[in-house]
Amino acid sequence: MATALIVLAAGLGTRMNSDLPKVLHRLAGVPLVIHALRAGSALEPDRTIVVTGHGAEAVTKAVHAWDDTAIIALQPEQKGTGHAVACALPALQGFTGRVIVLYGDTPFLTPETLEKLNASPADVTFLGFRAEDPKRYGRLIADGDELLRIVEWKDASPQERNITLCNSGVMACDADLLATLIPQLGTANAAGEYYLTDLVTLARKAGRTASVVTCEESETLGIDSRAGLAEAEAIFQARARAQAMEDGVTLIEPGTVHFAFDTVVGRDAILHQHVIFGPGVTVESGAEILPFCHIEGAHVSTGARIGPFARLRPGAEIGDDAHVGNFVEVKNTTLGTGAKANHLTYLGDAEVGEGTNIGAGTVTCNYDGVFKHRTVIGKRAFIGSDTMLVAPVRVGDDAMTATGTVVTSDVPDEALAIGRARQETKPGLAKRLMDRLRAEKAAGKKGNA
Ligand code: UD1
Repeated sequence: MATALIVLAAGLGTRMNSDLPKVLHRLAGVPLVIHALRAGSALEPDRTIVVTGHGAEAVTKAVHAWDDTAIIALQPEQKGTGHAVACALPALQGFTGRVIVLYGDTPFLTPETLEKLNASPADVTFLGFRAEDPKRYGRLIADGDELLRIVEWKDASPQERNITLCNSGVMACDADLLATLIPQLGTANAAGEYYLTDLVTLARKAGRTASVVTCEESETLGIDSRAGLAEAEAIFQARARAQAMEDGVTLIEPGTVHFAFDTVVGRDAILHQHVIFGPGVTVESGAEILPFCHIEGAHVSTGARIGPFARLRPGAEIGDDAHVGNFVEVKNTTLGTGAKANHLTYLGDAEVGEGTNIGAGTVTCNYDGVFKHRTVIGKRAFIGSDTMLVAPVRVGDDAMTATGTVVTSDVPDEALAIGRARQETKPGLAKRLMDRLRAEKAAGKKGNA
């Protein structure tokens, strides 16, 4: 059956105490709303609609960076979850099938749970969970799997508040039924809002079926404060570390390694202390990341050694057995098999051939203040320490640059480029100079400091 996804993401999240819309706060390197979209993508939806309100423009940008086919619906005023879905209805026109509603601030739903929800044969299905402390969640009044109604905490009697089966907010509904029932929602309740949860009563009145499927409470964790966000990050990291170790990765001090939502690390890779991954990283089997590295948007191949204190930025492509050492930054650069840049170097917008050695203090001068330019270095080249490569420039295979050279024009294969002031050596001058200065000091002369 065709599936459409509606992600509710209009709320500001007052308790976050932030100018940023709640769903743009980041968890594991990406906005919360991306976690919801990612979870929903397991259902391979035919249509995805995101309901925005606070910070709609910024939320739209983040959503489209992830999925440029997502349809944005606007809920200018937040009048409740039922109203939010009403705002999505025009974007649902012409769709028949199952609609799944998710919250943009609930990042931990698993594909298995969503598939279970999607497979429910009832016309309306809500995802519930047994809460240790049911707090102010809506309560599900159910008879076995059959859902009789949902009562919001604000409207619940003391007996109803004793119920521990809670509403996660996630639900599935037949599209035609949704379009029929949403306009029937009213606001005669304690919050004066349009409750999506009232669909259960309306559906049953219309002779349709309603049911509940359940999941673990940990999956339904919604973020509504900075403390909640930090707690969610800790949960994410703990799971990612455990998963990496189960996948055969060595984490020397797991608590100090931070993963992004999409980090991929191969078997027998070794991650030392304080390694931080941003989004878009793949580390292949047997690579070793030494302490204190920051890595994002990069690919590290088998046998490569990174760090300590290295920074790999987006577009860093580190070949098999290549080395990137301390205080080296690599951006939008390919380092060929066995190439080495071991000390104090910036490689940006560059291509470095296999077996090439980049000396300490080398800089690819890639930016002229307006445009970025490429540096291409061939195979088995030797770039002397403190070489400035003023891009665009090419250094050929088996070529060399002398220490301290400023390379402004191409260096052919097997050539040596040298461009530095010639040294003069004055025999005995150092001693004569020092003797004179010391004599002046002994005679009472003071410096200028
Ligand atoms: C809702 C449920 C409640 C459930 C709880 C789980 C209703 C009436 N109540 O509570 O049963 O236990 O979620 O967390 O559905 N949103 C909008 N526009 C709005 C209102 C909300 O986009 O006008 C979005 C929020 O940004 C958020 C989500 O919907 O992502 C849930 O809103 P929130 O206010 O947290 O939920 P409640 O209505 O309190």
